[in-house]
Amino acid sequence: MSQPSTKTLFRNASVVLPNEIRECSLLVENGKIIEIDANPLSSADCVVECDEKHLLPGVIDDQVHFREPGLTHKEELYTASRACAAGGTTAFLEMPNTKPPAVTADGVKAKDAIAAQKSHVHYGFYIGATPDNVDELNQAGNVPGIKIFIGSSTGNLLVDEQEALERIFAETTLPICAHCEDETTVRENAARLSGTSDLRDHSRIRDEKAAVIATTRAIDLANRHQHRFHVLHVSTAAELPIIANQSPYITAEVCPHHLFFNVDDYDRLGSRIQMNPSIKSKADNRALWNALLDNTIQAIATDHAPHTLEEKSQPYPQSPSGLPAVENSLALFLNQVSLGLCTLNQVASWMSDAPARIWGIVGKGRIEIGYDADLVLVNLEEKRTILDENQHTKSRWSPWHGETLTGWPIATFLKGQQVWSQSTGFSQDRFGEKLLFDHSRGGYWATPNGIGIE
Ligand code: DOR
Repeated sequence: MSQPSTKTLFRNASVVLPNEIRECSLLVENGKIIEIDANPLSSADCVVECDEKHLLPGVIDDQVHFREPGLTHKEELYTASRACAAGGTTAFLEMPNTKPPAVTADGVKAKDAIAAQKSHVHYGFYIGATPDNVDELNQAGNVPGIKIFIGSSTGNLLVDEQEALERIFAETTLPICAHCEDETTVRENAARLSGTSDLRDHSRIRDEKAAVIATTRAIDLANRHQHRFHVLHVSTAAELPIIANQSPYITAEVCPHHLFFNVDDYDRLGSRIQMNPSIKSKADNRALWNALLDNTIQAIATDHAPHTLEEKSQPYPQSPSGLPAVENSLALFLNQVSLGLCTLNQVASWMSDAPARIWGIVGKGRIEIGYDADLVLVNLEEKRTILDENQHTKSRWSPWHGETLTGWPIATFLKGQQVWSQSTGFSQDRFGEKLLFDHSRGGYWATPNGIGIE
């Protein structure tokens, strides 16, 4: 996207600043916020009338699977990034289990090149670890970090031998994140339940023990090697004591499906909620929510991982694991605000500020002078029902089909320019840029007020 040389005034918004909500106007110049509390009559080339609606920093989703290259019958960068824009997500970090997997510096560059042509929002791509690609990991350049599948999931990326893991933690410097499900435990459980076609066995095969063993092992590696480490998609209450009170260099995230679905939902939703890590119990839902509130978990990510409904309708275990979520994630948490379960400042911290700080994303994640004006205007009063047929993702379904939420994005802006609005749809000429990662600050740091704000 070319740099705008114009001024944009966001007039009369309820602006969600890091520690407060202020009724004010924002002035943006060359894509950056230059004034908070701007005069609502300031001269500007473009005025966005906010009508006292809430303006938040755009969501940064640090865990998505957008399937391009190689699996584009499920999803593409074009369709997925439009879904992001329509859901209030202005930047994504994409996982390496594409086809071919992104396990070389050139493989990541090839994805950057596709995104430069197709993405409606800002982007970054992880490099995937294999048992023997340390040299490539060290040549990756401007990437958010290294992804390790300590347990296997979709695709064939797996590193579970101790020696290989030690080497990756010892000989690389980029931040590392991992899918933590213990492969040995999963295989033993699968052997015990072999022949099953009961989908509920998915949560018995990928059980709490598998999550706990792998998370413990990964945190031990990170501590011994003093390596920046992020636990992806925590799914159990039992992992929380393991990640709590670790060094500020260890961070964690939770996904909407692990907060809002549990094993009692299999009867109603079937393989739509078959995920790795598997969904767990109602008690886990509650504990994970409390862990967000008390800052044991700092960030929310979707793990958007679409498969077609035809693929999903195969009998278990042929049905693949994964679900789409990017276009509903912000609304799911605005709905929590409408229920009085959290504040808008917490949502902005979990979905924008924390991911930006965890991954060292330069200039993003909060509404502050000097930051990029990646913004989402939301209507907290709007009630809308999620329907498969209205989804922008290529797979065109949502596990939340039929659910009515209160609080929805109504317009999304990248560097001050509108990329999507509820009334006019997508701006075809607005495309995302590659994110810039600065790992020199060592990542996220804990803060006294407990909501991840400096
Ligand atoms: O269920 C999952 N599916 N979990 C993941 O982490 C990846 C994924 C996929 O890519 O389909």
